Amino acid sequence: MQHILSPSLLSGNFACLSPQFTELSASGVRWLHLDVMDGVFVPNISMGLTVISSIRKATDLFFDTHLMIVDPIRYIRDFADAGADLINFHLEAAEDPEAVIREIRAVGKQAGITIKPGTPVEALRPYVNLVDLILIMSVEPGFGGQSYIPASTQKVADLRKMIDESGSHAKIEIDGGVTPKNAEEILLAGADILVAGSAVFKNSISENVKSFSEIFARIESGDAV
Ligand code: DX5
Ligand code: ZN
Repeated sequence: MQHILSPSLLSGNFACLSPQFTELSASGVRWLHLDVMDGVFVPNISMGLTVISSIRKATDLFFDTHLMIVDPIRYIRDFADAGADLINFHLEAAEDPEAVIREIRAVGKQAGITIKPGTPVEALRPYVNLVDLILIMSVEPGFGGQSYIPASTQKVADLRKMIDESGSHAKIEIDGGVTPKNAEEILLAGADILVAGSAVFKNSISENVKSFSEIFARIESGDAV
C-alpha cells in the first residue's frame, strides 16, 4: 500500500496557517494531523472546534483528528460538524470504546483508536475489526518535539501481526518523535501512516516532506533492507 505522511499541525506556525497548507499540498501531502488536548487527559491544552472549523474552509487536506480528551463520546458529533474526516480517540479515555466507535460511524466519519506508550497492544484486540485506523503513541501524549520511545517499533510489529491475522483493514499510524532517521525502521515494522510535527514544520516544509517521500518510495519499491 501507499504510505501516508500526516503532518501534525501542533508544530505549525498558528499566525499564518494558510501558506503552510498550500506548501504541504504542493509537496504532495494529503493528510493533516490535528491534536486536540483538553488539559485533563493530557497536561496541555491545544486547539479545539473553533480552529478546526475555520481551517476547514482553508484547505482540502484530510483531517486526521487525534482527540486527547476525557470521555470523547460527548464531542464526536461536534468534531464531525467542524470538519474532521477521521476521528481518533484514546482507548484509555473512553468508558465504552465500542459506543464511541458506533457514534463515529453514526456521524459518517472514519474511526480510529489510540493507545498510550504504557498500554499493551493486546488491549486493542476487541477493536481491530471495528476501526479504520489504530494509532500507537510513541511518546507520552501532550507535547510535540519529544524523543521517540524505541519500544514502540515492536508494538507496531505486534499490531501488524494482530491486524493481518484478524483480516482487519485497519491502518497503523504512529505518532511522536518520528523523523526521517527512524522512519524506515517504523515502516518496515508495518506502519502505514507516519505522524510528524517538528520533523515537518521545522525549517523547510517542502524539503522535510521530500525526505519522508523518498523513504516511502524506497520502502514501496522494496529497496529498503
Ligand atoms: C503529541 C501529539 C503529536 C505531536 C507529534 O501528543 O499527539 O501529534 O504533535 O509531534 P512530534 O512529531 O514533534 O513528536
Ligand atoms: Zn497526535
